[in-house]
Amino acid sequence: MVSQSTKSFIKSVLPQPVVMRMKTIRDLISHENYPPVPFDNTYPWLNYAFLELLKHGPGAYYPAYIWGVLQGAALAKVLKIPRISVIEFGVAGGHGLLNLEAAAEAVKEETGIQIDVFGFDTGVGLPKPKDIRDQPNMWFEGQLPMNRAALESVLKRARLLIGPVKETVPSFIAGNPAPVAFVSFDLDLYSSTRDALALFQADHTHLLPRVASYFDDILGHTYNDFCGERLAIREFNDSNDGRKICPMPGLRYFIPRVAFYEHWPDCMYFGHFFEHPMYPMLDSINKAVISDIQGLDIRRPPESDWTSKISE
Ligand SMILES: C[S@@+](CC[C@H](N)C(=O)[O-])C[C@H]1O[C@@H](n2cnc3c(N)ncnc32)[C@H](O)[C@@H]1O
Repeated sequence: MVSQSTKSFIKSVLPQPVVMRMKTIRDLISHENYPPVPFDNTYPWLNYAFLELLKHGPGAYYPAYIWGVLQGAALAKVLKIPRISVIEFGVAGGHGLLNLEAAAEAVKEETGIQIDVFGFDTGVGLPKPKDIRDQPNMWFEGQLPMNRAALESVLKRARLLIGPVKETVPSFIAGNPAPVAFVSFDLDLYSSTRDALALFQADHTHLLPRVASYFDDILGHTYNDFCGERLAIREFNDSNDGRKICPMPGLRYFIPRVAFYEHWPDCMYFGHFFEHPMYPMLDSINKAVISDIQGLDIRRPPESDWTSKISE
């Protein structure tokens, strides 16, 4: 056991990034900061479950997928929706889809929610960039193709939807999928992302009221607001009343420190479907019902008998 004074000394002499790394390793091996808590769609449970899944491996190369599937399944559970869909747009060799499949399996075990996994891809790599909005400085036709036979031989439960998303998204919706709870957008091109976002115009029955989303191509490089995924998001927001795609602001401050220095928290968005009939429903079992004189919150289901505690 390291004493408090030794810890303080170590912290004072080591550079901050090294201290953060040590803390994240500690987060992964102990539950000191993220102890087991009963299920709820709140940060304490999401953080505990996220670290458990990360520690045990499934989907561990794609922590954003673990986080997104957990958030989607947790919301579904609170809303009493027993089955959901999770999607990867852009599969290429399949490393991401295999991680999504593994994450979905682990989250199903953790939550009891059934999870259908879908991967959308041309099967033959990127389409030809149409104009400058597709950033032809970065992408070219046929880049990142799929070895379909090799991938299908290792996929356990994920379904591949092969073809341009402009065609496969409408047929996916027509197939009456379980509500979509998490989507990874990794199609690289503006035009492909714009076409994939037709999913977010589907009937509300095919969507959770808020869909956790990961956008892979928005940070660094030559990404900008007038090209690529950023442009597709902006155009979607400009042309849809009642449906908006927004970042999860400051997510990194709420999730385990293991993710603090990673870039994926800045790639996490929610599709908000404000006119969805379930949008106003409470999104966690327990809410802060009383904040006492010392500032401590008492959390209870709002429908429980908590008002008797006001005078305690
Ligand atoms: C960066 S790769 C995906 C990598 C994958 N997400 C991973 O992490 O392992 C992008 C993929 O998007 C696919 N793609 C791009 N535009 C598409 C479109 N319009 N329809 C279907 N697939 C498309 C390409 O075939 C390419 O393999």
